[in-house]
This record gives sequence, structure tokens and C-alpha cells, in this order.
Amino acid sequence: MRVVVTGAAGFIGSHLAERLLARGHEVVGIDSFTDYYSRAAKQRNLAAARAHPRFTFADVDLAADDLSPVLDGAEVVYHLAGRPGVRAAMMQFDQYWRENVMATQRLLETLKGRSLKCLVYAGSSSVYGDAEVFPTAETAVPAPLSPYGVTKLAGEHLSYVYWKNFQVPSVRLRYFSVYGPRMRPDLMLSLAMQAMYEGRVFDVYGDGEQTREFTYVADAVEGTILAAERGAPGDLYNLGGGSSVTVNHALDVVAETAGMELKRRHVERQPADHRNAGASITRARMRLGWEPRTSLRDGLAQQWRWFQETQKKAASVPD
Ligand SMILES: NC(=O)c1ccc[n+]([C@@H]2O[C@H](COP(=O)([O-])OP(=O)(O)OC[C@H]3O[C@@H](n4cnc5c(N)ncnc54)[C@H](O)[C@@H]3O)[C@@H](O)[C@H]2O)c1
Repeated sequence: MRVVVTGAAGFIGSHLAERLLARGHEVVGIDSFTDYYSRAAKQRNLAAARAHPRFTFADVDLAADDLSPVLDGAEVVYHLAGRPGVRAAMMQFDQYWRENVMATQRLLETLKGRSLKCLVYAGSSSVYGDAEVFPTAETAVPAPLSPYGVTKLAGEHLSYVYWKNFQVPSVRLRYFSVYGPRMRPDLMLSLAMQAMYEGRVFDVYGDGEQTREFTYVADAVEGTILAAERGAPGDLYNLGGGSSVTVNHALDVVAETAGMELKRRHVERQPADHRNAGASITRARMRLGWEPRTSLRDGLAQQWRWFQETQKKAASVPD
């Protein structure tokens, strides 16, 4: 089957592209290498997929370029391209609007009238904001605290609009704090590993007793593929890693995994940060047959191994 992955050079998209290739699909990867983090890191993410004979890559900007040719013949489109990051969105709303809303609308518009099996939209748990109930189910009323969450929610709604009005068969996901090898450098666990590796003090926002539901990337990828295979158009699924832990606990596990000291300092809580996150995954379990399998400890061990290899390779490259 011919499938398209947008954001294929990104953290989750690159893992998804590889998994789809391993399952025998012909994969078209789209990415425009936005400047949110380094192009070199994204090129590294893409390397394994690029070496595969059933992979083709298109350097296409979803918010500006003609999308028609690259979508020809696609049976499933996984839409992961976007501008992530909760805090930066406070300052750069125009870019968040462009990459998360305009890009999604242009993609959906191009998919109108095509014989597509499924469009999977990669949404975010940030749409819940400070949820009233934990674990939080998909039926909770979204109330994002960050402009990022607002744009991700707009993308969700657009996917629904194009399903209801134009029969683009959209299935929507809400990922919860995905981590693992290739994790984006701006995310807490990546920053903590970097600080620990360099012997620097790591700044924890707030008291660290806020909770997050961490989801190992291979589990998130599995859920994403199941959503395309078994999800009902118009439906929405939380993909959360199975347990919600405090930030302090997650950082303890990082240090234990590495067998190193992680020096910490608590700094002011950030305005866009929600206090707690915890996913009800009953719907994904029941309707998709999805089950997260990787414990935080095992997943962080994989990420730490990858992190160290990446640091060693970077150090061995001559200036
Ligand atoms: N990582 C998480 O924990 C998490 C949680 C919730 C939701 N998500 C969502 O999942 C998706 C993937 O996240 P990620 O962490 O892999 O992010 P990422 O930044 O690593 O990947 C996104 C990719 O999209 C590309 N892109 C952005 N705008 C584009 C455009 N206009 N045209 C083509 N390519 C474009 C970027 O260059 C990047 O490579 C995003 O939509 C994000 O909002 C991620």
C-alpha cells in the first residue's frame, strides 16, 4: 500500500516511516525541515528510511507548495507535520498558526474527493489544559492553556469538518508526552539528559510535582498505525503510555538509568504549563486493540543509550 507520512524527518514521523516500511508499505515522506530545531538532527532521523528502496522523500512545505502530485495514489496519509512545543507558541503564534492550522487545512483541501482509506491526524493532549477529571477521557471538554494547544485543537476540528462535509476519512489522535530515541531536543527529558551529561544544573519548572503521562515512541507509532487500520472516521483516541508520573519521579528514573547525578534547581512555573496530565486509554484499548507495552524505565534506558551514541558521534566529527 502507498502511504504518506508528513513530518517524516521529525521525531515521531521518522519512527513511523520506518515501521511502515518494515510492514511492507511504499512510503512517501514529506518534510520541509522547519527551523524549530536543527536540520542536521532531522537529516539523521531520516537516514534509515532514506536508505530503503520503498521510501521516497519530498521536501514539500504543506503550508505553501502544491500538494497534489505528492499525494497521488496515497491510500493512507499520516499527518504528523507541525510545529510542536508548548512554551515557544506564546511568542511565535504566527508560525504555529501556519504549521499547525494552515498546513492542515491545505492538506485536507487537497485530499477532498480522493479515494483515501484514512487520514490520521496527530493531535495533542495539550488540548485538555487543566482537565477536571483524571484519567482524562476523550469526552472531556478541551480547554487548552497554550496557544500551541489551541492550534492543535483547530487542526482536530478541521479534520472533523473535512470528514463531515467532504468525506475525508479522518481519525484523530491525542498523543501524551512521547519520548524515546530521537526525542526532540527541546523536550524536558532531552534537556535533562543533556544537562546531566554535561554536569550542568537542570532547571525544573515549578515544584516538579506536576504529572505527565509519558508514552514510548514505539507504542505511539503502533497506536498510530492501528488508528489507520481500525479507527472509525470522525473518531478521536487518546494515546497515553499507561501511567501518569510526577516530573520529579521521571527525572529520578533518568538519573537512575544513567547511573549519574542529575543536579536540579526549581524555577518559576511556566504560564502555558498544565498542572497534571493522565490519559484514559479505554477507548483506544477497546476500539483499536492498542496497549502501550514499554515501561518508563525500559523506554528511558533505550533513550539514554541512543543519547550517548549521538553525543559520541558528534564528538568524533572533526570541526
Ligand atoms: N512529541 C510529542 O510528545 C507530541 C505530543 C503531542 C502531539 N505531538 C504532535 O505530533 C507531531 C509530531 O511531533 P514530533 O515531536 O515528532 O515533532 P517534530 O518537530 O520532531 O516533527 C514535526 C516535523 O514536521 C515538519 N514540518 C513542520 N511544518 C511543516 C510544513 N509546513 N510542511 C512540511 N513539514 C513540516 C518539521 O520539519 C518536523 O520535522 C506534531 O504534529 C506534534 O504536534 C507530539
